[in-house]
Amino acid sequence: MKTAASAFLGLIVLVLATGAARADGAAGKEVFEGSDCQSCHFTQGPATEKTIDDQLAKMGPELWYAGSKFQRPWLEAWLQDPQPIRPMKFNSVMEPNPGGHPALSVGQAGSVADYLMSLTSDVVEAGAVKVKKKNLKGRLIFVKKMPCSGCHQFPTKKKFSGGMSGPSLVGAGERLNPDWVLAYLQKPKVFKPVKMMPVFVGVLRDKDMKNVAAHVATFK
Ligand code: HEC
Ligand code: HEC
Repeated sequence: MKTAASAFLGLIVLVLATGAARADGAAGKEVFEGSDCQSCHFTQGPATEKTIDDQLAKMGPELWYAGSKFQRPWLEAWLQDPQPIRPMKFNSVMEPNPGGHPALSVGQAGSVADYLMSLTSDVVEAGAVKVKKKNLKGRLIFVKKMPCSGCHQFPTKKKFSGGMSGPSLVGAGERLNPDWVLAYLQKPKVFKPVKMMPVFVGVLRDKDMKNVAAHVATFK
C-alpha cells in the first residue's frame, strides 16, 4: 500500500510532468492516443487522399492542421462539450449528425488542446485576413454572388439560415482561424485534395477570398 508521503510525491511528479508537457503537447498526445481518437482522426499530413473513396473512408475530419484551423479557447471548450458542427453526419448529405462525439474532462481537454494546437500547416499566413466588425463585400459574396449560403448555415438577425450540406458556420468567428479560412479557399489541395465543396480558385479573386474570410470571421 502506498504511504501518504509517496502518494504526495507522486502527485508532485504528476504536477511537474503536466507542467512540462503543456509547452510541447506530449501529455495531450498521450491522452489523444489513449482515448482512441486516432482511430477516426488523421494527425499526420500532408493529405494523401486521391479519390472521393479515400475521403469517404475517413471516420472523422483530419486534424493534422488543427492548430492552424481552430482557435484554442473554442477547441478546449468543445472537447469538453462536443456539440454537433456539421448538420449532417460526417461524409453524408442525407443522414443527420447523430451527435454523441466522445467528450474529455477539463484537464484532458486542456492537454489535448495543447497537442492539437501544435499541429500546424505552414501554408497558413498569420495576419493575412484583416478582421473588422463588418465586411460588406464579403457579405455580398457569401449570401449573393457565390453559393456559400446554399451549403452553410450562418447567423442572421432572427437565428440562423442557410444550407445543411456543409459544416455550420454559426459561431465560426470563435471557432475558425480566419487566416486558415483564407488558405482553405486559396489552396484547397493542401487541405482537401478531394472534397464536396466547390473550388473557388479562379472564380474569386484573392482580394475577395480575403473579404469572404473576413465576413465568416464575424459569424457569432
Ligand atoms: C468514432 C469516431 C471518432 C472518434 C473516436 C473521435 N472523433 Fe473527433 N470527430 C469525429 C467526427 C465524425 C467529427 C465531426 C463532428 C461534427 O461535425 O459534429 C469529429 C470532430 C472532431 C473535432 C472537430 C474537427 C472539425 O474539423 O470540425 C475535433 C477537434 C475532434 N473531433 C477531436 C477528437 C478527440 C480529441 C477525440 C478523442 C477523445 C476524438 N475526436 C474521437 C469522429 C470521431
Ligand atoms: C456545394 C456546397 C458548398 C458550397 C457552395 C460551399 N461550401 Fe464550404 N464546405 C462544403 C462542405 C461539404 C465542406 C466540408 C469539407 C468538404 O468535404 O469539402 C465545406 C467546408 C467549408 C469550410 C471549413 C469548415 C470546417 O469547419 O471545416 C469553410 C470555412 C467553408 N466551407 C466556407 C465556404 C465559403 C466561404 C463558400 C463560398 C465562397 C463555401 N464554403 C461554399 C460545402 C460547400
